[in-house]
Amino acid sequence: MAKTLRLHRRSMLAVVVVCLAATAAESQPPLEDWPPPGRERGGGPPDFASPRFARSDDMNILIDAWATLEQGRRTFRYDNFGNEVFWGGELGLHEAIAGAANGGVGPGVSPAMALELGLKVDVEALPGSLVRDLRRGRVDLDDPAVTIALLSLDAVVGVRGFFENERLTSIGITCALCHSTVDDSFAPGIGHRLDGWANRDLDVGKIIASAPSLDPFVELLGLDANSIRGVLEGWGPGKFDAHLILDGKSAPVLIPPAFGLAGVNLHTSVGWGSVTHWNAFVAVLEMQGQGTFYDPRLNDPVQYPVAARNGLFDVRPDKDLVTPKLGPLHLYQLALPAPRPPKGSFDRAAAKRGEAIFNDRARCAQCHVPPLFTEPGWNMHRFDEIGIEPDHAARGPEREYYRTTPLRGLWTRMRGGFYHDGRFATLADVVEHYDRVLGLGLSSAEKADLIEYLKSL
Ligand code: HEC
Ligand code: HEC
Repeated sequence: MAKTLRLHRRSMLAVVVVCLAATAAESQPPLEDWPPPGRERGGGPPDFASPRFARSDDMNILIDAWATLEQGRRTFRYDNFGNEVFWGGELGLHEAIAGAANGGVGPGVSPAMALELGLKVDVEALPGSLVRDLRRGRVDLDDPAVTIALLSLDAVVGVRGFFENERLTSIGITCALCHSTVDDSFAPGIGHRLDGWANRDLDVGKIIASAPSLDPFVELLGLDANSIRGVLEGWGPGKFDAHLILDGKSAPVLIPPAFGLAGVNLHTSVGWGSVTHWNAFVAVLEMQGQGTFYDPRLNDPVQYPVAARNGLFDVRPDKDLVTPKLGPLHLYQLALPAPRPPKGSFDRAAAKRGEAIFNDRARCAQCHVPPLFTEPGWNMHRFDEIGIEPDHAARGPEREYYRTTPLRGLWTRMRGGFYHDGRFATLADVVEHYDRVLGLGLSSAEKADLIEYLKSL
């Protein structure tokens, strides 16, 4: 038993390592020539099949990393940290989904409506028979009962259904709701998961506003339900305001990708902290999971009246379903690579010329330092350095500063605009802005080349 297990682990590991080596060779600059050939384990990569490697600490580290990564992936996709108590229990969102015909309230949410709201369906979670029926048009996409069936299959990305005797009794949300999409391989909105991609179709505000009860927000914000509903409905697709529950103001920002973040120091548009700081913040305060969260910067009645009044700076429930997941979740987040642009999606020769402009004449690389495309170190800039107002920065802990956005995988987020609030509709608008603010005097050919380079990242 132990032997087969070890063999199994070893062959699994060999596959992982070969894949890792292949991607690393593709995407990384060559390593320095150290240690010199022949100095480490007789030269070349270790012999994964050898008993010596099986006993080595390297093997333990790799196996542990693999298992932890897998745990983090599950957390990212499926863990709702006990927040069904909030989304189902307090807001009653599951009742709005089910509709009166299925024991809930109102007309219910059909699959067609769910897709319209930007929710995505994981085709791999569907049984073959259902896929065939869908293909033949034999599934009624206007029937909320089908949405319930999809939830019972765990097929709605980022939404977990809870059932008793096949009745939907609650729902919870996971990180994948906002930070995953699908590749549309089956149909628009239905396909294989793409973890870390920002879901710019998702209308979070509209979804929350459809809840039968907004009482928890009424209590938290001290506003009436209708005003809150109006605020939420005004956000629009691809946007969310994580600061609403801190300062009671509303100015939503775009959902950013959660890939390509390894090596990046501060996160979110206003630089709240590290990836794991923000993961805990979101899991506990925004997603309403049951977990511990501590950040005394929120205990500021002037900047964060709502957070200070409601004690959001120090949350300590009896049961902590978040803290034990933070390590694996962190590792998984950092492991998500920024995807490369598809072949033919940009002009190679122009991108090459654009790269030189990015690095030199346009001075972009001073802040967007390749290959991270943000600064190693304190990656924050005063609002006037990038020629915008301080309003949104003022809602963050650094007050006048914005975080330099890591630009990798820019091509995956062409929908919704650029900069934290999507104020620039196109990359051409972004380049025009910098040309003006930084007084670059770029020619139109140079601007065009720069745009091709941005599309290539
Ligand atoms: C309701 C949608 C939503 C959910 C659910 C959500 N996020 Fe986010 N996430 C956002 C938005 C919006 C931002 C940008 C916040 C800002 O800049 O003010 C963000 C920012 C981030 C960032 C920073 C990205 C960067 O470029 O610095 C990370 C990392 C992240 N989220 C991870 C997670 C994890 C992990 C979870 C689950 C525990 C999660 N998010 C759940 C909407 C969401
Ligand atoms: C002084 C530092 C600085 C310089 C110089 C700079 N940027 Fe930025 N860049 C930032 C910051 C900070 C943001 C985030 C702004 C926001 O979200 O409101 C940003 C955001 C962006 C974005 C938006 C990314 C997204 O996902 O929305 C693009 C694209 C971009 N920069 C490209 C460039 C180009 C091209 C240049 C050179 C012409 C350049 N930047 C020069 C700091 C800089």
